[in-house]
Amino acid sequence: MEYSKIKEANEFIKSQLSTTPEIGLVLGSGLGVLADEIENPVIIPYNQIPYFPESTVSGHKGQLVIGQLEGRQVLAMQGRFHFYEGYTMQQVTFPIRVMKELGITSLIVTNAAGGINESFEPGDLMVITDQINNMGTSPLIGPNDDQLGARFPDMSSAYNKQYVEFALEAAKELDLKVQTGVYVGNTGPAYETPAEVRMLRTWGGDAVGMSTVPEVMVANHANMKVLGISCISNMAAGILDQPLTHHEVIETTDKVKQDFLQFVKKIVQTLPLN
Ligand code: 6GU
Repeated sequence: MEYSKIKEANEFIKSQLSTTPEIGLVLGSGLGVLADEIENPVIIPYNQIPYFPESTVSGHKGQLVIGQLEGRQVLAMQGRFHFYEGYTMQQVTFPIRVMKELGITSLIVTNAAGGINESFEPGDLMVITDQINNMGTSPLIGPNDDQLGARFPDMSSAYNKQYVEFALEAAKELDLKVQTGVYVGNTGPAYETPAEVRMLRTWGGDAVGMSTVPEVMVANHANMKVLGISCISNMAAGILDQPLTHHEVIETTDKVKQDFLQFVKKIVQTLPLN
């Protein structure tokens, strides 16, 4: 994605704001409710922002919500772009580039994911410690713009270790049970087969979803610090004797909404920047 397009989107967003956002939030399927808690919100539909695609999946709204949350300045994506919708990897990750251009260096990414780890239960929250890119491609393929990041970016702490510890401490203070684990990014839109789920388990995956991985690659390329939280909306195929439905994903995220909101708000309150 050309730098000039990132700058144009950045200028447009900045022109609507009187404050500078310090934390970026990407809200996954069914988790967009967090944006409703943002005070004095400036709401910008994606279709108004230069070069932003429009989001299509149900359970996603498709707008930026910018304002105060727990006393911090945040910019939230209420709905994200998925590779399975047909967007290019560059389109999927364009908002992350724009966040960085706006001055955001701390990013919280959230998603609904299927549990691979058999000790997990639907409704669990998982702090992401690492990821596996199983999407068969990368948003960083193509000519590298050195102004945006390094040709061969380090991914050895894709999810900031200090942020993982910080999130676990916040959970402890809230008396909230949270899991930790590795997130596998698949393209979707089909859910995995039981054989694929067994494979992902031997690979070291704990949860599987259809997002997050490209955004986190670009965030690392852009030298941003990332915290990731998965809501385990269901167990992946072959673990329980029942088919998977998008309905189940939305239903479970509905149930854990309160825990999720409480957890992310607590983190946002005092998340260290830089
Ligand atoms: Cl089981 N798989 C994938 N790929 N994404 C999901 C999921 C499963 N559950 C929620 N999102």
